[in-house]
Amino acid sequence: MAVTELNQSFTIDCGLLKAVTFWNGLCILGLWVAYRTLQAVYNVSPLHPLYHFPGPRLAAMSFAYEAWFDFFPHTGRYSFEIKKMHEKYGPIIRINPDELHTNDYDMVDQIYAGGGHVLDKQQHYLNTVAGPLTQSSFGARDHETHRIRRSAVNRFFSRGQIMKLEPEVHQLAQRRCDKMLRWRQAPIGVNEAYNCFTADTISQYAFGQPLGFLEQNGWRPNFKAAFHAFLNTSYLFRFIPIVRNLVHLTPYLAKYMEGDMKLLVDEMTVKLPGHVERAMRDRENSRIFAELLDSKELPDSEKTVYRLAGEGFSLMSAGTETTAHHDEDIFPDSYTYNPERWIDPISGQKNHALEKYLMSFSKGSRQCLGMKWVIKGNHDEFFFKTR
Ligand code: HEM
Repeated sequence: MAVTELNQSFTIDCGLLKAVTFWNGLCILGLWVAYRTLQAVYNVSPLHPLYHFPGPRLAAMSFAYEAWFDFFPHTGRYSFEIKKMHEKYGPIIRINPDELHTNDYDMVDQIYAGGGHVLDKQQHYLNTVAGPLTQSSFGARDHETHRIRRSAVNRFFSRGQIMKLEPEVHQLAQRRCDKMLRWRQAPIGVNEAYNCFTADTISQYAFGQPLGFLEQNGWRPNFKAAFHAFLNTSYLFRFIPIVRNLVHLTPYLAKYMEGDMKLLVDEMTVKLPGHVERAMRDRENSRIFAELLDSKELPDSEKTVYRLAGEGFSLMSAGTETTAHHDEDIFPDSYTYNPERWIDPISGQKNHALEKYLMSFSKGSRQCLGMKWVIKGNHDEFFFKTR
């Protein structure tokens, strides 16, 4: 074919391609807008199963309402807005097209899966996790996959195992206290000091090696800022799930990153898979990965390096930075560190009646795996301080 002919056909093809792409694009956009509009109308119509529940109509119409509060003027405001919505609409409200929310504690047992109660996790909620985290117990959508994954890690957080490894945790707690007492340079960012401690502790407990945050001279680097950056992206992931695919690029982007973020990405993409590979060759001192690799509950498809590293990363993130909920009627002055609230003022014994209201670790089959560990740690810390 002559060069001019080739150029001509190329120009025609490109022109055609442009026209087709433009019209296709417009059609797809039109269809998408029409679909979304119909869906929004259906969401607030009497045909929708949640139609009769009270709440703002805009919230029932689309996830955009929730997204607005979770992004502007800063991230994570919707839970505060939900509190206000309860004051206006009552104890059971509709907070988005698919979800009801209650602040009535008597409904807890009906809602949370336990015993034979099967409950899948909501995809909208799970959209917050990406990459290897989607392969963890926390990231499992359906009840059965979660049950299998969870039963394999459960033993590692049993009371017996916690007691066995307690001396190692104490050693790190002692190291943290000594370092804080010796510290003279500048005021200590207590959050950072604790972040160094919890990250080192969970790494020591689960993988047999601390990360070295307490060993280093100061308190930085640590995972605090990086976890916060990760948590903030989770809102983006929740509302625009396609963006989650970018997480697969992090191993390639790691070399352009710096500081805390690079540390966290290295942990996720290099160190944890390294621990798993070592455990595959040699179970000695491989801790949780040895447990998972030898597990009879897990099929081989659940024992890949990628998935097990995801389980490990879930433990790191769940065990290092965690949040809690507040109800001032039940826990007055809830933002104050007041462990005495758990002791009955009359009998001087544990206040069991209050335990029913403890929601910060969730309930049912998805309840926090580290709960016993945290409570044991807080108990020790409390008695250490009051002695
Ligand atoms: C004060 C500290 C902590 C709080 C308030 C807390 C809270 C929670 C909550 C609310 C959940 C349920 C999340 C959901 O499925 O929606 C959860 C799950 C989880 N937590 Fe914690 N957590 C804490 C500490 C820890 C620690 C120290 C560890 C690990 C050593 C840990 C490991 C996990 C794991 C693995 C899950 C997922 C469990 C599953 O889906 O089966 N957490 N945590």
